[in-house]
Amino acid sequence: MKTACSYAVMHAASLADPAAFWLAQARYLAWHRPPTAALSQDEANGAHRWFAGGTLNTAYLCLDHHVAQGRGPQKALIYDSPVTQTLSTYTYAQLLDLTARFAGGLRELGVGVGDRVIIYMPNLPEAVVAMLACARLGAVHSVVFGGFAPHELAVRIDDAQPKVIVCAAGGKEFDRIIPYKPLVDEALAKATFQPAHVVVLQRGFVTAELQPGRDVDYQELLQAAPVPAVPVPATHPLYILYTSGTTGRPKGVVRDHGGHAVALRFSMEAIYDLAPGEVIFTGSDIGWAVGSSYIVYGPLLRGCTSVLFEGKPVRTPDAGTFWRLVAQHKVNVLFTAPTAIRAIKKEDPEGRLARNYDLSSLRHLFLAGERCDPATFAWAQQVLGVPVVDHWWQTESGWPMLATLVGLEEMPAPRAGSAGFPVPGYDVQILDEEGRPVPAGTTGLVAVKLPLPPGCFPTLWRDEARYHEAYLAPFPGYYLSGDGGYRDAEGYCYIMGRVDDVINVAGHRLSTGEMEEILAAHPAVAECAVLGIADQLRGQVPVGLVVLKDGQAVGEGALEKELVAAVRARIGALACFRQVLVVARLPKTRSGKILRKTLRQLADGEAFALPSTIDDPRILDEIRADFQRRGTGVAFEKVA
Ligand code: COA
Ligand code: AMP
Repeated sequence: MKTACSYAVMHAASLADPAAFWLAQARYLAWHRPPTAALSQDEANGAHRWFAGGTLNTAYLCLDHHVAQGRGPQKALIYDSPVTQTLSTYTYAQLLDLTARFAGGLRELGVGVGDRVIIYMPNLPEAVVAMLACARLGAVHSVVFGGFAPHELAVRIDDAQPKVIVCAAGGKEFDRIIPYKPLVDEALAKATFQPAHVVVLQRGFVTAELQPGRDVDYQELLQAAPVPAVPVPATHPLYILYTSGTTGRPKGVVRDHGGHAVALRFSMEAIYDLAPGEVIFTGSDIGWAVGSSYIVYGPLLRGCTSVLFEGKPVRTPDAGTFWRLVAQHKVNVLFTAPTAIRAIKKEDPEGRLARNYDLSSLRHLFLAGERCDPATFAWAQQVLGVPVVDHWWQTESGWPMLATLVGLEEMPAPRAGSAGFPVPGYDVQILDEEGRPVPAGTTGLVAVKLPLPPGCFPTLWRDEARYHEAYLAPFPGYYLSGDGGYRDAEGYCYIMGRVDDVINVAGHRLSTGEMEEILAAHPAVAECAVLGIADQLRGQVPVGLVVLKDGQAVGEGALEKELVAAVRARIGALACFRQVLVVARLPKTRSGKILRKTLRQLADGEAFALPSTIDDPRILDEIRADFQRRGTGVAFEKVA
């Protein structure tokens, strides 16, 4: 079901007249009041806004509209949870009913237009209902990934100031139960801001204690009378999604109702080539942008069926679980992170488990979250026998910026190592340090010429200044992505990694700056550096290098334990921070800047030129010996 339009023609049209292009796309939605203009500039901050003047409601588009079109009996959501051995389906009509009632319950708790609601739950239908119920009321949800520790949750509570928190009593991994409610209580004890209510979903395998007066049972809220969707301006915030920046303070990426709906609907058709009624399985978490966009909103806006998976790609019960899901639910598009494929490959190198299943429904495997290494790309293509598409995006964009748009005609085929071509709406440019475009084949900073298309973040929550400083100010007229990469002579783009202090651990975006803040707070530590070094499973993992204060007698092993525990307690287990090396000195420039990139290159075994500004090159030999001693990094791990 291809859109009868060539990629090149469509991309050129989207850049030549963005307003006309996106206004035409907006006509596919059931607006309450259609916009008459597409692009405007915000008076307060000068940022671009899409479809000001139009009113709509995203939950209405995801549910009521489909039911009105006769799609009520079609499956909207398939919840498949090997960890709890549950399989349930929700039709569009059922999901609408639950959402309308839960929205009624939230309204009884005082939630209205513009109020924030934090959702701290695993991949559960009740979490999807909570997201859609907020959208229905014009409230602003913020889903926080369950792997974050109470401190991180507290930071988000203080920033978002939610009227209500919706949480699950706990989550389940293949070998253990993870209680969530005690983490919420701990976060609330740390936070300055206090919500009026905490709504708790009890689960069969874990029951949470409820605090009288404040805590409410999720099921009780579902008894409320259903409420209709509240039309909101297109520019009204739909959600806030926190993501790591270069410091300990996360960035609250804001998404609007109108631009988001237009962009996601378009992407489902042009990028993923999915028609209403078809099935997508996105193996991610609703706490990440990928999950929010392609487990929840994208599929529902398009009238597709979305598979909501509570589990891991391996050990639930084996490395064939994704293939089982594809066969059982007749999945047309599978979307996950390269890490998940590497985890499967590690346990089933020959891909034998795939042969146990009928994968004939599958048309494409899409990958994102980190660069897909060519070996993983080739393995997946060979095992699944379908094209593999690596595509690039960020929480900030909310949908892909580079891709192979399999729904368009005359689209060059995907190529291993490349994230493809600029998606319509995105004028992706590679710039040098002065902001000048570089020639093909030259690596530089990846930027997008303004205006950003619909769906991209119009601001950061309560931090307009940071939005400008971090993204727009460095090169006027461009959005700076924070990634480095290049474009080849044929136009294929390659994203090679972050150029800032952000790392990607198993497709999870984390700040090394935040980890350094935690290490530096230890009384024995004089200075430190945290590097993201190459890891065969997770892509990258953090490693800490610390210099002790004079006279400290603490041993490396004991200090490592304390620092590992400190990072786990503050950020969470998902950081996978497990190694600390005590070093005598850190290499610096003459102006005192730690040479983190050089250290990473050393650990990764990459060739590098000795920085001309290095203060004392002998320090690199010392650190090389330390890496060797501990077997740190791919360059040394066999020596350990
Ligand atoms: N709630 C609570 N804790 C969580 C969690 C959650 N939702 N998710 C992860 N954790 C914890 C794990 O229990 C683990 O804790 P441990 O150190 O006590 O063992 C830690 O965080 C690290 O988790 P993870 O990286 O998931 O390790 P794993 O060995 O369980 O699984 C993979 C490895 C590769 C299978 C897994 O990381 C994976 O599926 N990655 C794909 C990532 C992905 O989909 N990213 C989405 C971005 S698009
Ligand atoms: P997040 O905001 O968590 O989605 O992380 C965004 C970051 O992940 C980007 O800035 C990139 O560094 C990385 N990333 C995402 N997709 C890709 C990809 N296809 N190729 C390379 N890096 C990617």
